[in-house]
Amino acid sequence: MPASSPFPSGHDRAATVTRLRAAGCVFAEEEARLLISAARTPAALAAMVDRRAAGQPLEHVLGWAEFCGLRIAVDPGVFIPRRRTEFLVRRAAALARQAAAPARQDPAPARPRAVVVVDLCCGSGAVGAALAAALGQVELHAADIDPAAVRCARRNVAAAGGQVYQGDLYRPLPARLRGRVDILAANVPYVPSGDVGLLPPEARAHEPRVALDGGADGLDVLRRVAAGAPLWLAPGGHLLVETSERQAARAAEAVGRDGLIPRVARSARLNATVVIGTRQPGPDA
Ligand SMILES: C[S@@+](CC[C@H](N)C(=O)[O-])C[C@H]1O[C@@H](n2cnc3c(N)ncnc32)[C@H](O)[C@@H]1O
Repeated sequence: MPASSPFPSGHDRAATVTRLRAAGCVFAEEEARLLISAARTPAALAAMVDRRAAGQPLEHVLGWAEFCGLRIAVDPGVFIPRRRTEFLVRRAAALARQAAAPARQDPAPARPRAVVVVDLCCGSGAVGAALAAALGQVELHAADIDPAAVRCARRNVAAAGGQVYQGDLYRPLPARLRGRVDILAANVPYVPSGDVGLLPPEARAHEPRVALDGGADGLDVLRRVAAGAPLWLAPGGHLLVETSERQAARAAEAVGRDGLIPRVARSARLNATVVIGTRQPGPDA
């Protein structure tokens, strides 16, 4: 290492690991590597290690989270995308590819069209950004009630030419999207109010309550999303919402009550549960 390198010597690296480990960071070696590679100067590294040792989530200190192989910008105070949500993205991408494919009976099939994707309760915009990266050609819209999330999402969906709106659920979406949405992905808050206090301290202290608290049984926001979905979905379009395994049956019932055809998908590997609600296809489908 050159004498002028801003990066710590082996001794300082070991000190960083020791400090992180003493603060309770289970993956101290890996965290030290990421912090060292992110810091431009020793002073910046020291400040980052201080923030991490004080309990800030690693992703907020770094300014990004890894999600679906992408680096998603995550500002302090914005929900950190979870690995389990990659399952929702994979299911949504598979359904979007079916929607984009030209009809098999078409004698002169057109090129696959851009699917219309809405990422509702978008937080950092991770779900929409990952879908756009997976599908290539999408018309992407995202919305969140929290201004900090909206600012962050604008950075993450810019590469896909996505639009981000601020407001309560569907309210800020342009009316021209009604009846046109192929994929409505909504990773809504779904922790029951009484369980928010049981979440790890990093989530409780550093993620906003509006991103976590789903009401008495955790399904208040999901029910509102399901009730509005038929108006926005295209015929044959799909709503995808993440829930816990425990909530899945009630979540599917709520989705079915509003006229969508519900089913539950589960990934044991990611410990992820997604309820999918499909609008009846049109008569010529
Ligand atoms: C669990 S976080 C998910 C964020 C992002 N979709 C993800 O998976 O990383 C839920 C998000 O819903 C937003 N939210 C909560 N209530 C909302 C509402 N009524 N309208 C719009 N967004 C809402 C929160 O601000 C938060 O960003």
